[in-house]
Amino acid sequence: MSAAMHKVLIAVAAAAVVLTGAAVQTFSQTNDVPELPTELKAVSTFADIADTQSRSIALFREASKVLQHPRCVNCHPAGDRPSQGDLMRPHQPVVMRGKDGHGAPGLACTTCHGGANFDPARVPGDPHWHLAPLSMAWEGKSVGYICNQLKDPRRNGNRDIAAILKHVSTDSLVKWGWNPGPGRTPAPGSNAEFVALLQAWADTGAHCPVP
Ligand code: HEC
Ligand code: HEC
Repeated sequence: MSAAMHKVLIAVAAAAVVLTGAAVQTFSQTNDVPELPTELKAVSTFADIADTQSRSIALFREASKVLQHPRCVNCHPAGDRPSQGDLMRPHQPVVMRGKDGHGAPGLACTTCHGGANFDPARVPGDPHWHLAPLSMAWEGKSVGYICNQLKDPRRNGNRDIAAILKHVSTDSLVKWGWNPGPGRTPAPGSNAEFVALLQAWADTGAHCPVP
């Protein structure tokens, strides 16, 4: 092949890549894919808020970028069905929470969800994959509501704030949010940054925004 011909082929290939990019862009716009946050501000960013209560609230608002992210909300739904994907569509096929969040008899979550992500079929996994109880539903809730829910032992699995911090820093379902497999946007920032925000929120009195 001549050098000129080779250059033409490279140009055509490059144009195809550009066109494909444009097509993907249009596709996602027409489907209203939400602009999901990808980063978290560091705790130090909030140091100049002099009022402790306002600082506490600002820290929680930043952490709520994770709490309200599809990776968490899909498993903390307000109904009896999980949702799926960045668009938080109802889970397909239809599955129900069952009496303990592990699925209805005969269609347990573990029928399809294994001990780890199964990337070839895009099925997420974890050894204890199941749905959060209704008392911990975050779907459609305000940041203030979620904040008060998190602090309420009657609705948070009888945890004090230290136990909540331990849960978010050690639980494998929480950590899965930053390792969700292909085709899903990870929760913003890192798990360590998220935990640091909630720790700083706790240290400043764990104040909640007015719902
Ligand atoms: C019949 C198979 C099957 C069963 C049973 C099942 N799932 Fe799924 N689930 C899937 C598949 C497949 C996907 C991936 C869909 C995709 O994103 O392409 C999925 C995705 C999900 C997601 C989406 C994760 C995300 O953030 O995108 C959640 C949450 C979920 N399942 C929860 C559950 C829960 C909880 C149960 C039990 C109550 C359950 N599933 C039972 C097949 C199943
Ligand atoms: C596969 C489903 C699943 C995913 C994904 C998931 N959770 Fe949960 N979550 C649960 C279940 C089940 C419980 C209840 C377990 C318990 O109380 O020990 C729970 C409980 C919690 C609690 C306990 C206190 C409360 O009041 O809610 C917190 C905090 C929490 N999850 C945070 C998160 C965060 C943050 C994410 C996303 C980064 C997340 N979860 C993603 C299933 C999930």
